Amino acid sequence: MSDKDTALRQQAMSEIFTHETTVSGDPYRLTFHHMPPVGLMNDPNGLIQWKGEYHLFYQWMPFKPDHGEKFWGHYISKDLVHWKHEGIALAPSEWYDKDGCYSGSAVSHEDTLYLFYTGNVFNDKGDQEEYQCVAISTDGVHFEKKGPVIHVPNGYTGDFRDPKVWKKEHKWYMVVGAKNQKAQGKVLMYESDDLLQWEFLGPIAGSNENRLGDFGYMWECPDMFELDGTDILLVSPQGLQPDGMKYNNTYQTGYFAGELSFTEPSLEHGAFVELDRGFEFYAPQTFIDDKGRRIMFGWMGVPEQMEQSHPTVNSKWIHCLTVPRVLEWNGEQIIQYPVPELEEMREAVLLHSEITIENDQKAIRGIEGRPIELQIDFEQLDDQFAIELFHYISFSYTKRDGTLTLSRPHLEDKSQTEFRRTVLKEELKKLHILIDTSSIEIFVNGGKEVFTSRMFPQPEDEDILFTSLGETTFSIEQWKLSGYVYE
Ligand code: FRU
Repeated sequence: MSDKDTALRQQAMSEIFTHETTVSGDPYRLTFHHMPPVGLMNDPNGLIQWKGEYHLFYQWMPFKPDHGEKFWGHYISKDLVHWKHEGIALAPSEWYDKDGCYSGSAVSHEDTLYLFYTGNVFNDKGDQEEYQCVAISTDGVHFEKKGPVIHVPNGYTGDFRDPKVWKKEHKWYMVVGAKNQKAQGKVLMYESDDLLQWEFLGPIAGSNENRLGDFGYMWECPDMFELDGTDILLVSPQGLQPDGMKYNNTYQTGYFAGELSFTEPSLEHGAFVELDRGFEFYAPQTFIDDKGRRIMFGWMGVPEQMEQSHPTVNSKWIHCLTVPRVLEWNGEQIIQYPVPELEEMREAVLLHSEITIENDQKAIRGIEGRPIELQIDFEQLDDQFAIELFHYISFSYTKRDGTLTLSRPHLEDKSQTEFRRTVLKEELKKLHILIDTSSIEIFVNGGKEVFTSRMFPQPEDEDILFTSLGETTFSIEQWKLSGYVYE
């Protein structure tokens, strides 16, 4: 390890130590979501279950609640519920990653854990250069950098990042997000026999590829995987314009379903589908665990979107991740639900069945506070149903046109609308809602639609109100969730 590496690690650790009480005293500190020990957290990276333990790395700027020269922070868990912060996996210390160890992925090969990440550099002229780099570990905690293994191919710009590696039969493959010299976002594919020598196969999807037309200037964080026989490309394109209910965040995340050809590498795919309809969701990554499940974590943030309006910056931290979610393909679309392991957090339970509200707004005895989990099952719904939380955020459904609306009037800059919407293609049957101190994740009808957002209500406000136009009959189950999941 270089002297610079050691010095950066020490500075980061002392930053944690200096601000520990400020961060832990913040009323918006999350209780069952990953957040940074100090500073800014963005993308989940390097997700893998290795030798029985789940590893979750993340983009981390320890020195300020803002972007900059990213480190890789590291959490480990045996059960996806209790996590230990392992400290620093990678620090931006070398010529090829001095301006950030950017996002990437992990694979296991011959008892060794390989991290693939992007070395980000601003050169003497101020231009961005990005390299795909490798670091390896035999104990899963200490990583030795091996330097760049891929340089940007001809025709592409310095926006060239976020390697995701996987194995199929006896070969390794990698997808990388890129922007070409015509400012078109692309996903590039590589192959390798040994994880160190990589051959460029070409773009498999992107703006102006596969009959797509213009679709953004840069595609970040690609993830290519199979879900029940369908090939899925998960990607975060930048540069889409708002289109009615779609693409209202600064940048979007979604997927293309189709078929990946390995002989002449390209992805034949259908339409882009947004994976989440809320205000904060970006740069997710998936992995397969030992049970064969495809599990995803997302970043509960969006770059350049309302970041400074988050009150947690006053307590020296910002952003968090979503809970781990299982992804499944139901023959038509991806559905998402929280990993069942999270049920271990459930404490006191409360069940009210056959509640009817008619043209009224009501509180329901005992349904209040946070962190909590709610499960609502609808028996009858005439017209419109809404749930308002802590006088800060509300979620509603209008039966006539199927519109689901998440409304958050308090945390907006002027360039953003104060609600996010989508149309549910069937009747509303179920809501499953995870509420932490400053976040909400709403799974609709078993995860056919999901809304993910941050919220910053008055910490002491515990009120949850239910409104119905016409008559709504439903049952509601609430669990108080146990406190901190960190060891
Ligand atoms: C996505 C992203 C990635 C990049 C990382 C840097 O949020 O912009 O493309 O690798 O963040 O922190």
